[in-house]
Amino acid sequence: MHEPLTPQPLGMLADRMHREWQTRRRIFDLPTARFFDVNSGPDLSAEFLGRPIATPLGPAAGPHTQLAQNIVLGWLGGGRLFELKTVQILDELEIARPCIDMASLGFNIEWSQELKIPQSLEEYVKAQMLIRVLTESGELDELIGDPGAHVFDLSVGYDHAGISTEAVAGFIDGMRDASGVIDRLRPELAAGPFAGFADVDIDPCISDTVTLSTFHGCPPDEIEKISKHLMTRHELDVIVKLNPTLLGFGQVRALLDALGYGDLKIRPEDFAADLRFERGLELIGGLQQFAAEHGREFGIKLTNTLVVENEKGVLPEPTMYLSGPPLHVLAMTLLDQLHISAPGMLRVGGHDGPVQVSWSAGIDKDNLADSVGLGIVPATVCSDLLKPGGYGRLAPMLKKLGQAITDAGVANLDEFVEHRAAEAFADGARDSVAVYTAELHDPETGAPYRAEATATSLREVDHDLEMWGCVACNLCVTVCPNDAFVKLPSTEELGHRWEYLVLSELCNECGNCNTFCPERGDPAMLKPRLYTSAHRFEADDRPAFLVGMADGVPTITANDGCADEIDTLRSVIGGDAGLPLDTA
Ligand SMILES: Cc1cc2nc3c(=O)[nH]c(=O)nc-3n(C[C@H](O)[C@H](O)[C@H](O)COP(=O)(O)O)c2cc1C
Repeated sequence: MHEPLTPQPLGMLADRMHREWQTRRRIFDLPTARFFDVNSGPDLSAEFLGRPIATPLGPAAGPHTQLAQNIVLGWLGGGRLFELKTVQILDELEIARPCIDMASLGFNIEWSQELKIPQSLEEYVKAQMLIRVLTESGELDELIGDPGAHVFDLSVGYDHAGISTEAVAGFIDGMRDASGVIDRLRPELAAGPFAGFADVDIDPCISDTVTLSTFHGCPPDEIEKISKHLMTRHELDVIVKLNPTLLGFGQVRALLDALGYGDLKIRPEDFAADLRFERGLELIGGLQQFAAEHGREFGIKLTNTLVVENEKGVLPEPTMYLSGPPLHVLAMTLLDQLHISAPGMLRVGGHDGPVQVSWSAGIDKDNLADSVGLGIVPATVCSDLLKPGGYGRLAPMLKKLGQAITDAGVANLDEFVEHRAAEAFADGARDSVAVYTAELHDPETGAPYRAEATATSLREVDHDLEMWGCVACNLCVTVCPNDAFVKLPSTEELGHRWEYLVLSELCNECGNCNTFCPERGDPAMLKPRLYTSAHRFEADDRPAFLVGMADGVPTITANDGCADEIDTLRSVIGGDAGLPLDTA
């Protein structure tokens, strides 16, 4: 059984940021070439439920928005809207492993947060504090200038009873006013390299918007009740995240077949339990009216993942959740149909409807401009960030969006949306949503979404992975959403280029590094697994090390599985670059 995910304390994260910056010019392993400067191109700013965001992009609810360092990484890459990992009352779920399979399309079997509810609150507060400190410290001024505004958007699920419990209500209240947590954490900043910024102003309101996840059996009739509860009891502006099942079984089947995904099996019963299209329309209209009457903002998000039968057998559950390219086509078809059926309601295609549409379905570098060009705000990403390059994929997406805006001869995102709408009208189309949906359905222009294009084969090397040495492709570092891998220069004795080590407390054994590692064997298990907390080390019966630092010298304990490797580990982590951890 895998060990629980254990966040690093704020002080350790601050120290790690500082040491990596001093010794490697990186932060949480992201090189400066992948930092995004929002001032470097056309104005990409947008509004999310009335709040400014400096770019219309960010990570979707998932592994990239659970731990503090993940959120900082998304921010460095240029993300400015963070759909935080869903928090629900069941905070002791045992998720089977591996839980992510991004080999071709995206599949996962994850649920909501793996952390305890108070830990989730603390992670989001820590992320906000680290971003504030980085901004105030001025260290990054030359690289990213004024970073502009960002928004942390809460995500909760999945039923009214759970959301009304003291634990979840307390969590939401805590996110609205986190003064207590901030005050409790400040001393950790004061004790480290950012001591001069320990008193920096931090807005105690970490979040006052929420996206309601209606996945995992959220009862359709409760969506309305929960949304109203969130608007009134918690005074939050609300987005309802809808599921592709809204299209109905027949249409989803037909679309998947047309795209060449005949082998993806869906089950009518998974559609029967979910919200239906007509009820969905009613719900959107009703909640918009309710929000207007209560002085709140309301929007929808398209979409969450699609439940499919697990025929691949990589993930250990009978069903799994599809994301990535095919979901982009399904979600866009759904947007088009909602837009036709509720004229004037949605703020897309150049129409100034009252309901904001945000997005999380197969966004990548090649379709970001087409998507936000429809007026969608924001476009959030999960699957693409789990591919090689990881968080480093955000900045190229934003650069390509900036280029599209410049090429269109306009100055900012709003004008770009108008430009795309005007082009569509000039071509005699209903609007830009209709044009883009038709492009996705067309076998030629929609080719990147078809099975032939998405069936990639991963690189393989005929070699068994060992504790020391490997092809040094760096993929394990970039595909890990938790930044659980550290790369250190090898030693003369070992004679490799780099050594890769696992920060075991941050590894939840999701399987993503194993998917992309070209050698045979699981990097998360075979590479040196380091713990900094004794109780986590002692609870693990697989080969592992406990590392500490005494007077600047690493102290290492090993269990039986790797006792012979202590001296080698000492020479690797004792090098100039050192372990970027204050383990004292
Ligand atoms: C590993 C993984 C975990 C996810 N966890 C959540 C979650 O906790 N809450 C949620 O609303 N959506 C979750 N999602 C769905 C994503 O937020 C997103 O809606 C979906 O993956 C589609 O976007 P994509 O095609 O960019 O991946 C998860 C997706 C993946 C792949």
